[in-house]
Amino acid sequence: MKQPVRIAITGAAGNISYSLAFRIASGDMLGKDQPVILQLLEITPALEALNGVVMELNDCAFPLVQDIVATDDANVAFKDADYALLVGARPRGPGMERKDLLEANAAIFSVQGKALNDNASRDVKVLVVGNPANTNALIASCNAPDLNPGQFTAMTRLDHNRALTQLAQKTGKHVTDVEGMIIWGNHSATQYPDIAHCKVAGTPAAELVERDWYETTFIPDVQQRGAAIIKARGASSAASAASSAIDHMRDWALGSSGVVSMAISADGSYGIEPGIIYSYPVVCRNGAYEIVQGLALDDFSKQKMKATEDELRQERAAVEHLLG
Ligand code: NAI
Repeated sequence: MKQPVRIAITGAAGNISYSLAFRIASGDMLGKDQPVILQLLEITPALEALNGVVMELNDCAFPLVQDIVATDDANVAFKDADYALLVGARPRGPGMERKDLLEANAAIFSVQGKALNDNASRDVKVLVVGNPANTNALIASCNAPDLNPGQFTAMTRLDHNRALTQLAQKTGKHVTDVEGMIIWGNHSATQYPDIAHCKVAGTPAAELVERDWYETTFIPDVQQRGAAIIKARGASSAASAASSAIDHMRDWALGSSGVVSMAISADGSYGIEPGIIYSYPVVCRNGAYEIVQGLALDDFSKQKMKATEDELRQERAAVEHLLG
């Protein structure tokens, strides 16, 4: 039997976690042979609801779950954590401007970055799901000087998965036939879902779909999918977000079967200078990710990549004073 790993989940009484915690507990993230200790963080007013979630987790009698910790103290939640999924965030309230939202979340993620720095395993893998995810990840990373910035990532895997399905459905193929999908930039409406390097069952996607569909239907549909789900469901994507968080962490830990999208510290690749968390095409192996290099970019792609980069630099400017 393997040693158990510690998995911290924040916002653990929220909607995404109501799916996420159970799927992690059942072994979907790290495998059916990996015991887990769940360390669940909530704000104090949500502790009673969290207790209900813990009761249900216990009632599932998951063979892999060795222990469950429920707390409102980030230092306890992140103690020796091997994996941290930062899901909890402050939603936009009435009359709240984008800048207010950024600042409210910056306050949360600076505290959590410090708590990770002081308590987590030195090899912790951090995934930020709570929005604005890229900038929240940047803030957490900047407040964790003893951890490598490469340990902090943000989630664009849901956008990636949405794009896979849109293209598969359009071409009459299965998602597993699609390779080389890329989400560049921010997890926001400026993200750039790029099919220029995609193949569907071996054929370049650009030969299978009209350019007009790509520019006027595919790109906006992927960018606006979150809003479409809120409109249809009356609530935001939760199960699909949880599923994508599991995909992201599983691939990072155990390896990806091809190119996937992860928002990571920009390192100058593709002209995106350091200082922001930007979504790139990566391949994961041996517990690490590597940016796919050498892809040719046309002017359309360069312009879209710049637009989403500009938005991330503006977000950064709004919280610069909290970057530690
Ligand atoms: P939710 O509102 O149902 O749950 C959020 C939970 O976080 C609440 O229980 C709240 O009490 C808790 N929370 C707030 N501040 C906290 C703190 N400082 N520490 C610990 N817990 C805290 O929201 P839901 O649907 O679970 O979504 C969570 C976040 O994920 C939102 O920010 C949402 O915008 C984002 N999201 C990101 C996606 C992505 O692709 N990156 C996709 C879908 C959602």
